[in-house]
Amino acid sequence: MCGIVGYIGTQAATEILLSGLEKLEYRGYDSAGIATIWEDKIHCVRAKGKLYNLRSKLEHLQTPARIGIGHTRWATHGKPEEYNAHPHTDTANRVAVVQNGIIENYRDLREQLKANGHQFRSDTDTEVIPHLIAQFLKEEIARGESNSEFVFLEAVKKAVNKLEGAFAIAVICADYPDELIVVRQQAPLVVGFGQGEFFCASDTPAIISHTRAVLPLENGEIARLTPLGIEIYNFAGQRLKKHPRLLSLNPMMVEKQGFKHFMLKEIHEQPGVVRACLEAYFNSNGSSSINLGLSDELYADLEQIQIVACGTSWHAALVGKYLLEQLAQIPTQVQYASEFRYAPSPLTPNTLTIGVTQSGETADTLAALAMEKERRQNKQPKYQPRLLGITNRPESTLGHMVPNIINTLAGIEIGVAATKTFTAQLMAFYALALDLAYRRQTVAPDVWEDIVKGLWQIPKEIETNLETQERLTEQLAHDFAETTDFIFVGRGINFPIALEGALKLKEISYIHAEGYPAGEMKHGPIALLDAKVPVVAIAMPGSVYEKVISNAQEAKARDSRLLGVTPVNDKEAAEIFNDIIPVSPVDELLSPILTVVPLQLLAYHIAARRGLDVDQPRNLAKSVTVE
Ligand code: AGP
Repeated sequence: MCGIVGYIGTQAATEILLSGLEKLEYRGYDSAGIATIWEDKIHCVRAKGKLYNLRSKLEHLQTPARIGIGHTRWATHGKPEEYNAHPHTDTANRVAVVQNGIIENYRDLREQLKANGHQFRSDTDTEVIPHLIAQFLKEEIARGESNSEFVFLEAVKKAVNKLEGAFAIAVICADYPDELIVVRQQAPLVVGFGQGEFFCASDTPAIISHTRAVLPLENGEIARLTPLGIEIYNFAGQRLKKHPRLLSLNPMMVEKQGFKHFMLKEIHEQPGVVRACLEAYFNSNGSSSINLGLSDELYADLEQIQIVACGTSWHAALVGKYLLEQLAQIPTQVQYASEFRYAPSPLTPNTLTIGVTQSGETADTLAALAMEKERRQNKQPKYQPRLLGITNRPESTLGHMVPNIINTLAGIEIGVAATKTFTAQLMAFYALALDLAYRRQTVAPDVWEDIVKGLWQIPKEIETNLETQERLTEQLAHDFAETTDFIFVGRGINFPIALEGALKLKEISYIHAEGYPAGEMKHGPIALLDAKVPVVAIAMPGSVYEKVISNAQEAKARDSRLLGVTPVNDKEAAEIFNDIIPVSPVDELLSPILTVVPLQLLAYHIAARRGLDVDQPRNLAKSVTVE
């Protein structure tokens, strides 16, 4: 995933582009670049690595440009080197393009363009776009169209009709210095409306400090932005009528607000996120109805649920499976979206398919849902697609693609490692499972009410735990800064939390970590254990507590340092664990929302101790919009 921005108006473009890119850096940080137009020329400045490298290159360059485009890259085609950084230009350096996505047919296009004399300077798929546009511009002009107001637009339209793949692009041309053209095809792009100025970006945080009036483009749309206004067309060239809407996002939400990193801020926001979800999904007056706003057809005669997701969202889906099966008694499968796409389960009747993706843009999850929709269409009624999305970005591609959405209400998450959005996904699953359990009467009313009451206590419990957990994990981080391997174990509903704890540590601290169901250790992974390999065990009172404790004993017998995520005043735990990170003794069923927090903090403090870039870990991007 990459980030693109664009500006046209009366202000100095460079700083607007750079500050927009700062807010998009979570989407990729292998290189960055901007192209502006002044003195009838394209001026392109690019730098390998993080945005500050680009900033320092531009430091002494005061440019009069009032139009420009910018890009922050997560490398797909071609190494993360400056020559592959966007913007890319045509041979004559008159057209500049930034792109987020993948041009699948770029090899063929590149060969054709080379045969026509175009010279390529990068290994990227994107570079074909400025060359194609330049070629069509030449053809338009040769046809005597050079005086038409729409020459540039026409050339871009013809070029995008040649492209296959998923992409969002922004284009400028030195010969048309009052036009910024943007295109969306399966990759996000929003246009922001200012006073005599327009902005565009892959995501709203990049423009929120300038305007809250935005228009997210739909797939297959091209917008022509000029100081005089905006025109929107489809790829066939028909003009469309669209209106902006007001964003509720507050610019403060995309600031660190005194925290050292976004990740730490986002961990601390979790009590508020859980509260927001409770207030939105549950009735605080104690009545048993749940408001998810889902259609009744989604629930009718439900026999099966299948969930597709990636990464942390896949872990949330595993907790969801536990809840849907144990509370609502519905057989539930959880699939990696990237696997499901190419090996889907046989079709089952009356099946609800849930796509979980915080960003709503993960290519594998979207493709798995699209595939499921397609293969169920034109089948008998009981096989018809029933799709539900769980996302933190209802305005995303997922939001457009799936008719039923649970909005996870975590607020924008900037840290690449998901924290508060995971907790919010868990809340969505609690609400869904309890709603289904209520409708299907699979849980006794008093038990149902106790679970709901327990959920309302969770924000306070996270708050109570946070201070001690923060202090202890920061201390523990001293001991583990040099550790090379970690094992996380849990059972039942806390097994996915062991996976999530290991993923958090891997992605931000680069320490090898594995999560296992505690009972599986003895079937192989136990061979890894010795005094150098710490084991983190999630041991919450409930159905598997004693089992986890004995599995932890097995690890201790192999000299592993044992860390327990467990209630503090448990005597048995105190004897076994070398270190305890305390968690309030809540009902086992609700415990994942509490147990995940200290694991996020442990990963955070170890990574911070190692001096790593917590919010933008190497090789990663916030969401992966390529296959
Ligand atoms: C989470 O910490 C990861 N960065 C990653 O696994 C992420 O959860 C995954 O890429 C899925 O993203 P999504 O929820 O936006 O679909």
